[in-house]
Amino acid sequence: MGQESAKKAAAKGAAKLIESKMIVGLGSGSTAAFFIEALAHRAQTENLQIKAAVASSRRSAELGERLGLPIQDLNDICRVDLTVDGADEIDPEKRLIKGRGGAHVREKILAAASSEMIVIADETKLVDRLGVGVLPVEIVGFGAPATRMKVEDLGYKCAWRQNPDGSLYLSDNGNLLLDLSFEAPLSHPEAVQEELIHLPGVVDTGFFFQLAGRILIGYPNGSFEVR
Ligand code: 5RP
Repeated sequence: MGQESAKKAAAKGAAKLIESKMIVGLGSGSTAAFFIEALAHRAQTENLQIKAAVASSRRSAELGERLGLPIQDLNDICRVDLTVDGADEIDPEKRLIKGRGGAHVREKILAAASSEMIVIADETKLVDRLGVGVLPVEIVGFGAPATRMKVEDLGYKCAWRQNPDGSLYLSDNGNLLLDLSFEAPLSHPEAVQEELIHLPGVVDTGFFFQLAGRILIGYPNGSFEVR
């Protein structure tokens, strides 16, 4: 309950930063869903005129559409004013790990197309070093076992993401997700990205470097701070 209130506090704080006529990027995950709700609430109650909302996942697009936001495809829009998204890990240099919701590739494209990516989270997401939890890596289905072997040859432990029924989880792009785990948090996450991104079959990892702008950390008492 406390964590949910903290996520809502950050989400509401971010919704207040949206101005009329903006094109807004919608992230994915539970904190981003609270933002979508808070934004729709402002649009309905304060006559906030959002020009368009571009979603990073089918689930966020469906939620936004249901709540009356003017959802548009990123294929029809090249520049987004503000994207608001959650994160799984945030380090002191504003480097992130994302993708527990399986949408990090679209989230990264959306963040890169945005003038600013605002990150919303509760304080459990703050880490000294990235790599405390898993690093999601999106993998093309063709030759996936061979790609996984290359990842393991680099010394990383990994597991295919699965649905509750045991079937393989597929991203909105129709690809597989390989969750990598590390023996200890990472001193040089950029070096890990550099190794992985050059493997044929790897679409992208959940590392987000130099993409996060303001970070809003919410607290269970409803307050939030901006970093
Ligand atoms: C989805 C993501 C999410 O933003 C991240 O997993 C955080 O999720 P939540 O807000 O539910 O804690 O990257 O791909």
